[in-house]
Amino acid sequence: MAQTWTPNSWRQKPIQQVPDYPDLAALDSVEARLAKYPPLVFAGEARRLKSALANVAEGRGFLLQGGDCAESFAEHGADTIRDFFRAFLQMAVVLTFGAQQPVVKVGRIAGQFAKPRSSGVEKQGDVTLPSYRGDIINGIEFTEEARVPNPERQVMAYRQSAATLNLLRAFAMGGYANLENVHQWMLGFVKDSPQAERYRKLADRISETMDFMKAIGITAENHPSLRETDFFTSHEALLLGYEQALTRVDSTSGDWYATSGHMIWIGDRTRQPDHAHIEYCRGIENPLGLKCGPSLTADGLLELIDILNPANEAGRLTLICRFGHDKVAEHLPRLIRAVEREGKKVVWSCDPMHGNTITLNNYKTRPFERILSEVESFFQIHRAEGSHPGGIHIEMTGNDVTECTGGARALSGDDLADRYHTHCDPRLNADQALELAFLLAERMKGGRDEKKMVVNG
Ligand code: PEP
Ligand code: CO
Repeated sequence: MAQTWTPNSWRQKPIQQVPDYPDLAALDSVEARLAKYPPLVFAGEARRLKSALANVAEGRGFLLQGGDCAESFAEHGADTIRDFFRAFLQMAVVLTFGAQQPVVKVGRIAGQFAKPRSSGVEKQGDVTLPSYRGDIINGIEFTEEARVPNPERQVMAYRQSAATLNLLRAFAMGGYANLENVHQWMLGFVKDSPQAERYRKLADRISETMDFMKAIGITAENHPSLRETDFFTSHEALLLGYEQALTRVDSTSGDWYATSGHMIWIGDRTRQPDHAHIEYCRGIENPLGLKCGPSLTADGLLELIDILNPANEAGRLTLICRFGHDKVAEHLPRLIRAVEREGKKVVWSCDPMHGNTITLNNYKTRPFERILSEVESFFQIHRAEGSHPGGIHIEMTGNDVTECTGGARALSGDDLADRYHTHCDPRLNADQALELAFLLAERMKGGRDEKKMVVNG
């Protein structure tokens, strides 16, 4: 891997999951246009996220990463973004309380449009068509026309990302995330759920603390950290032509950055060490995620770590583990041991979604209890190995969907048809996401008490 990296050196490598664009001249012209558009995020922001993640890697923080499996052009509206942000902030507040540590907030949003597929084709009855690969590539409708990859979609995805990011920046910095609003983040449909009472109690405690602080002169007006929050964006860097077009030199450091999002990750299907996706990602300075599934060996992981993070910089690499509730105990310990043995600095994050997908009544779904079970195992294994369970990576929405079964409202297989709206994988609804956050907060509190016992005992 000593060869020189350039933003297009990935083009010399074998590549998986490439769309079959019929008109390559049109593709070139879109990429050339995108290359002249303004960056979506700035290098300094990506550096700030990296330093926040460095703290997580060192055991002083927790990463909350989540959002849609696939964003869609059809569902692009202010309400959807606001409701997602509210649900996400609620989770973050619950986790901050549980961990008593900073929670690093990273959305799967403002760029999460391209999807890897296990099959290149989809069959319905006797009709076989190319698979849907995300709105940035083709359309979800099951028609021949919609499924043809159209490069103009990249421009739409860029513009939607810019608009989404604009609103998110306003929410994060313009007063919406003010902790004085902690009661108002409750979503209408969550208000009468079993989580609501728990959340209300927690919000009351926060308000009480805020009142106390106000009394001694610490207010949201004079302390920006009470009224603003750092919120970062992330997506899978799958469509490399798009990523390349948005790869820019940072004028202050002279380094290359992906400006399509603050953090980008490499999917479980495209992490071959000598292939294009790893080649692209190794050369940019952003924080990176690497999906780790059951086929990843300890040696394979160490090889990838050396390529992606040769300087062993804390915060550069987040390992997003997605084994499945029944496989995590078999695979995670050997990876942790190899990483610890070699002294590699990583953030360990748990994606309890992608290894727990089943089909029920013809719907792809994920049983909530399996999601919880993978998270629980992840925490237990890290406690046993002495490593830091640093984060969680989930697919979620602020909408009242019925896509994952279970949870406090006990959604059943028969409920799935009610509000099954996802463009790709099933997401936790806001209620289920909050329930997961409370459970995690309890685990983290447990971990803290255990540490205290070790220190005191
Ligand atoms: C995803 O995160 O939506 C995804 C496709 O994950 P993975 O690469 O882990 O399968
Ligand atoms: Co997914």
